[in-house]
Amino acid sequence: MAETKFTVNGEARSVDMDPTTPLLWVLREQLKLTGTKFGCGIAQCGACTIHLDGIPVRSCSTPLAAAEGAALTTIEGVAAEDGSRHPVQDAWVEHQVPQCGYCQSGQIMSAVALLRDTPNPTDADIDAAMSGNICRCGAYGRIRQAIKTAASA
Ligand code: FES
Ligand code: FES
Repeated sequence: MAETKFTVNGEARSVDMDPTTPLLWVLREQLKLTGTKFGCGIAQCGACTIHLDGIPVRSCSTPLAAAEGAALTTIEGVAAEDGSRHPVQDAWVEHQVPQCGYCQSGQIMSAVALLRDTPNPTDADIDAAMSGNICRCGAYGRIRQAIKTAASA
């Protein structure tokens, strides 16, 4: 056990846990932030995507130790402080992207990072940024359209 300090969605947090614990379980079980989902557990599906110092990472395969001193953002922290939705979230609603919804927090976290770094992405940019996020419902067409809508917002 060791104390690890970091921020989550702008709030200072500290946990006393095994530093090899995957961040996914720290977020879900310890901090009760259950918007981040467990899919494969082996960094293959993207359901668990969060931002670590702004970089999208697979929290199922990122140890707690990597969070020391870092700023984490989860799906719960994407909206503005006043509660208004992020443009990506607006576009997701407009295009009715989710089907079962299980993959969607990870999809949105990847899309938010893409548009922050590439405000006007090409189809190739979208494919490259989103290829690690699997949707077994096959919502890929709507995801792409929503990203384009958010980019033009
Ligand atoms: S649960 Fe982390 S990539 Fe699938
Ligand atoms: S909406 Fe069902 S897995 Fe993506």
